[in-house]
Amino acid sequence: EKGGYDYFMLKEIAEQPKAVADTLLGRIDPSGSLTLDEVRISPQELREVDKVVIVACGTAFHAGLIAKYAIEHWTRMPCEVELASEFRYRDPILDGRSLVIAISQSGETMDTLMALRHAREQGSKVLAICNTNGSTIPRESDAVLYTHAGPEVAVASTKAFLTQLVACYLVALYLGQVRGTKWGDEIQAVIRDLSRISEEVDRVLETMEPVRALARTLAAKDTVLFLGRHVGYPVALEGALKLKELAYMHAEGFAAGELKHGPIALIEEDLPVVVVVPSPRGRSVLHDKIVSNIQEIRARGARTIVIAEEGDEAVVPYADHLIRIPATPTLLQPLVATVPLQVFACELATARGNEVDQPRNLAKSVTVE
Ligand code: M6R
Repeated sequence: EKGGYDYFMLKEIAEQPKAVADTLLGRIDPSGSLTLDEVRISPQELREVDKVVIVACGTAFHAGLIAKYAIEHWTRMPCEVELASEFRYRDPILDGRSLVIAISQSGETMDTLMALRHAREQGSKVLAICNTNGSTIPRESDAVLYTHAGPEVAVASTKAFLTQLVACYLVALYLGQVRGTKWGDEIQAVIRDLSRISEEVDRVLETMEPVRALARTLAAKDTVLFLGRHVGYPVALEGALKLKELAYMHAEGFAAGELKHGPIALIEEDLPVVVVVPSPRGRSVLHDKIVSNIQEIRARGARTIVIAEEGDEAVVPYADHLIRIPATPTLLQPLVATVPLQVFACELATARGNEVDQPRNLAKSVTVE
């Protein structure tokens, strides 16, 4: 059942190209537009929506944070992302024009379920993004877009996360398509890139041996920091969460721009810091800023582990370790940038003798609040 792998997590990491492709299957028509008929909220209703609110927990919350960048960019509609466990307690402002998206792999997470019930009580429509057919969250939602990751057994979410991202991009692009957007050409190009992205994920998987070797050298460390900007920031949070739950190490993700507002005080000699670098094409200002951030932390002794696009030469002088990922449009980069972080955490857990598929104190589906 583990298909020759030592752990379900390794198997599920390896299944990601297929999971991504399966989640796109049948949803992009040959003309390059999206058909999401299964989303039973009519185009007219979607045109009336004036804000999107995403609720989720853990890794699914990180997918939601990334979705916010895509939704706001492509639809110019405000999008809030909230931890499901906090949502209903702060009396959120919702009405019939809010579209609430609940993201959950299991479809049984109690915090997310309670958040969506609250949203429906306020008259909002709820769209579930879920991996488990017929589970409670989709059953209680107005509509569902299933991710087709297949069963995810390891407690640490990997392939479900990538497919949640794909589903979020599809929803964002679909909202753009239905509502009309000034980004028409960009949307067409992104749909094309998305339809090829599973091959890029596959390419990343083929180059993971140096990441494993690097992880093994860090097994005795206490702390690893993760930095990113823009969509790389939630990727940094996800990298840190994986390391906490699997390696039981102190790990934190920061927005790189926040360094100077406090976290830079943590930098000391030989502290591993993983930096997710945005593409030098696209939003190049962000790229240049993060290169300065890498210089700053390295000057203070950090051991820099840099994840950067192929062909990005500007990072080379400041990278103690360089992990290459394929070039993608900025908003899609999390699909390739997250993979090395999953492998890194899995290998560190193994090196530290931890139980990879069943980390201590955790359950696959959290059915209590
Ligand atoms: O089943 P869900 O997607 O609702 O689960 C949400 C979180 O409990 C889950 O993502 C958790 O953070 C994972 N163990 C992370 O790897």
